Amino acid sequence: MKTLREYIKDASERGVAIGHFNISNLEALHGIYNAAKKLNLPVIIGLSEGEEKFVGREEAVALIRAIREKDNYPIFLNADHHTSFDSVKGAIDAGFDAVIIDQAKFSFEENIKVTKQCVEYAHEVMKNTGRDILVESEIGYIGTGSDIKDNIPEGAGVLTTVQDAKRFVDETGIDMLAPSVGSIHGLIKSGKPHIDTLLVKKIKETVGIPLVLHGGSGLRDEDFTNAIASGISIVHINSEIRFAFKEAVKKSIQENPDEIVPSKILNPAIFAIEQIVESRLKLFNGIK
Ligand code: G3H
Ligand code: ZN
Repeated sequence: MKTLREYIKDASERGVAIGHFNISNLEALHGIYNAAKKLNLPVIIGLSEGEEKFVGREEAVALIRAIREKDNYPIFLNADHHTSFDSVKGAIDAGFDAVIIDQAKFSFEENIKVTKQCVEYAHEVMKNTGRDILVESEIGYIGTGSDIKDNIPEGAGVLTTVQDAKRFVDETGIDMLAPSVGSIHGLIKSGKPHIDTLLVKKIKETVGIPLVLHGGSGLRDEDFTNAIASGISIVHINSEIRFAFKEAVKKSIQENPDEIVPSKILNPAIFAIEQIVESRLKLFNGIK
């Protein structure tokens, strides 16, 4: 099987994007995997620090590894938005395939320093173990929290400059960059963020490494397709999955108030997540 690095290279050469979907429970994992398998596409499962704490770090590694080995399937695990070197190191040591060091709220210099430390550690582990580990880092402002927001938060207009992106990539040696190009984490009640696809294109042409789009939930279809055509190789979706889970469980309990078998209560949630992921994956891969 190809490595995640090879799948990303392949996606970027073909002008498509790999879907990255967050989980905090088994139902989401099943829904995401069902959709990916149906379309026969590689998929990345992400766990933020909070999600990782809820699922269990080693448990998450074991779950993804079990599926990968059982079905010989390209499903990969990413430590999403980890906020310190120690937390990134913990995920690398546990066996994650990729990590995101998120120091975006700190100064640019501090961000470079900690990101570099994570890259150096990943390289050392790769050298000692033969594993492949990808390090991603974020610059600019893409907000926090995969939740429901009333408005587009302040600061959302601050986009990554091409110069900053170039300096950051050159000085840190990261494998993938998450720039701020207009999207924001979460589902926004009062409007839809807009992606600056020209900026995506310029950053991609300048830095050369794969670019990752965060805050995918709630974006217009054309924003995804234009962003991917301009150089995005991975798209992150979380809030849409959380929302689908909650709505499906609520409906399931309302419709069958005496049902106590967890699988019967939760099966509709798996299906709802599968539907969302399938439609997003089709869009990211130009499948009708
Ligand atoms: O890293 C996670 C993603 O960027 C999720 O963003 O909740 O807006 O889909 P989202
Ligand atoms: Zn994100």
